[in-house]
Amino acid sequence: MPMRSMLFVPADSDKKLAKSDDVKADVLILDLEDAVAPPRKAIARDMAFEYLKARPRGSRPSKVFVRINPLTMPEAEKDIAVVGAGAPDGIMIPKCAGAADVMRCSGLLDTIEARSGVPAGSIKIAPIAGESARGVLAMESYARERTHIPRLAALTWGVWDLTVDVGASSHKGPDGKFDFTYQLAMSLTLLAAKAAGVEAIDTVYSDYKDERGLLALCKDIRRQGWMGKLAIHPAQVPVIHEGFRPPAEDIVYAERVLAAFKSAADGVATLDGAMIDQPHLKQARYILELRDAQ
Ligand code: COA
Ligand code: MG
Repeated sequence: MPMRSMLFVPADSDKKLAKSDDVKADVLILDLEDAVAPPRKAIARDMAFEYLKARPRGSRPSKVFVRINPLTMPEAEKDIAVVGAGAPDGIMIPKCAGAADVMRCSGLLDTIEARSGVPAGSIKIAPIAGESARGVLAMESYARERTHIPRLAALTWGVWDLTVDVGASSHKGPDGKFDFTYQLAMSLTLLAAKAAGVEAIDTVYSDYKDERGLLALCKDIRRQGWMGKLAIHPAQVPVIHEGFRPPAEDIVYAERVLAAFKSAADGVATLDGAMIDQPHLKQARYILELRDAQ
């Protein structure tokens, strides 16, 4: 499934939950964590469950993930137990400290799925892998443990929480570019996602009124291999989709790759005198899937 846009929706806001039906994000992330004040955690959890129940799988215009509270907090297990029964398409783990956290969450989901009649293994997991120093240093664990975490669907990172965890007063220098620590976190997230064979999703673009800046950034990170971007405002969703649209020459090339494989007898083919094999085919199919996405 394309995951170009993943829009955070505070789960305790009736107004924003209602609005999310019209947004056409690839993924909505009902947030129980940072967008919800501590006294409203329980309300948000119940509202997320009600939202999911009212929109069974198959009737959802977008995939629906839920961002739970960090696994270090007592709320997390309650979050998984309550929202898991609503068959979300995925769980987002904030401040994830590595593959061991994904395994723990996965074990809890095994129980909930069995108890609630949700197909086994169908709730995916998308950790925010790079939003703490520990998380950034544990990035290799996703690649190492990939066969033990089949629920893993995507990796992303969070610049603001990482800034706080590092004790920095800002994450950009006078030139407006990320400091090296954040470039490293971003790059490791991309590499870990690729090594684990899952989607690489870039962090939020906080200045949500700057559509021009967001569009340019999306085009640039698409070129670098990112598959999507987190969003905080509905207006960012069409901009992100535009930014991740493959350029015309990539579409033409992908169509030619598919045609070359149609007439090839086995797993390799020739195009313009060069050998092409399965990774080319996989990439071509993905580009055509993006072309066809609304
Ligand atoms: N999801 C769904 N609907 C949203 C939304 C979101 N993330 N953000 C805004 N909306 C809705 C508003 O309710 C408003 O609806 P209306 O047309 O029915 O009045 C409309 O979109 C326009 O919103 P706008 O007035 O421009 O923004 P705002 O001032 O209401 O909200 C934010 C601005 C940043 C507070 C809001 O976008 C938001 O809550 N974002 C998510 C924050 C979050 O989850 N953070 C945690 C992850 S980093
Ligand atoms: Mg946060």
